[in-house]
Amino acid sequence: MALLIILITITLLILSIGYPILYQLFVNSNQIERQPTETQIIAHRGASKLAPENTLSAIEKALELGVDMIEFDIHLSKDGEIIVLHDEMLGRTTDGSGNVADYTLKELKTFDAGSWFGDEFKGERIPMLKEVLTLVDGKSTCLIEVKWNQEGVYKGMEENIVAEIKSFEAENWVIVQSFESSYLENINQLNPNIQLGKLLIGSWLLPVPFYFDYQFHWGKFTPPNYISWVNFYSKRATPLYIKSLKKKGVKVGVFTPNSEKDLIKQINMGVDAVITDNLDIYY
Ligand code: G3P
Ligand code: CA
Repeated sequence: MALLIILITITLLILSIGYPILYQLFVNSNQIERQPTETQIIAHRGASKLAPENTLSAIEKALELGVDMIEFDIHLSKDGEIIVLHDEMLGRTTDGSGNVADYTLKELKTFDAGSWFGDEFKGERIPMLKEVLTLVDGKSTCLIEVKWNQEGVYKGMEENIVAEIKSFEAENWVIVQSFESSYLENINQLNPNIQLGKLLIGSWLLPVPFYFDYQFHWGKFTPPNYISWVNFYSKRATPLYIKSLKKKGVKVGVFTPNSEKDLIKQINMGVDAVITDNLDIYY
């Protein structure tokens, strides 16, 4: 009996995790079946195949291409300044080492964030959020992903973001997204006019519903009413799930399909946006 229960549980879990992957095998990946205007193209970490991710050069290149949105990631320095970088650690994309949160802005600005990508980007600095907003200046929409570090969420991050968006009058051309719901709740309380996006890995995994964001959750994700976008891991996408979210009044994006076939599949399944490194396909 115990063995039977274990077998059933394992089968249900395999089905839950595997069915979107199985489903996607049958989606047309050869030809886009929708109008170009139906899917927004979001440059992941800027135009990150053309310039070092999350730098002003990557943002500039994305602007030149004319993408619909530019995604980038933010952290807080030791002295409370918002900087643009993906990792909480400096080692992968700069010549610094250690944790971002242990350095002041002035110290962070001494690191080279471009050489790892190519000699022509030598001397590129870690940008501040305000430098990126100055550069974009409403010419595209910024999709700002709020990160955290080993200590947990950044204290004071929300007030800081809201103040920066206000000072640039950027409510109409900025969307703030995070896996961490408390950031989104707090930003909504501080300024309900800021558009918000929820990041997820998986949801409504049949027959056993569960999803991950900052943590693991049993059950189906239901977007709170202040969320206008749900952006989730592309391998979990099925048309039914996309439709069910859209019915709740949110836009749906997926991260990060990069091959041509994966991008075509996601577009054909009806997403509103693809967050991708691979902009060659469109521009
Ligand atoms: O926009 C969502 C996507 O960027 C999340 O993944 O690791 O690239 O920040 P990551
Ligand atoms: Ca990101």
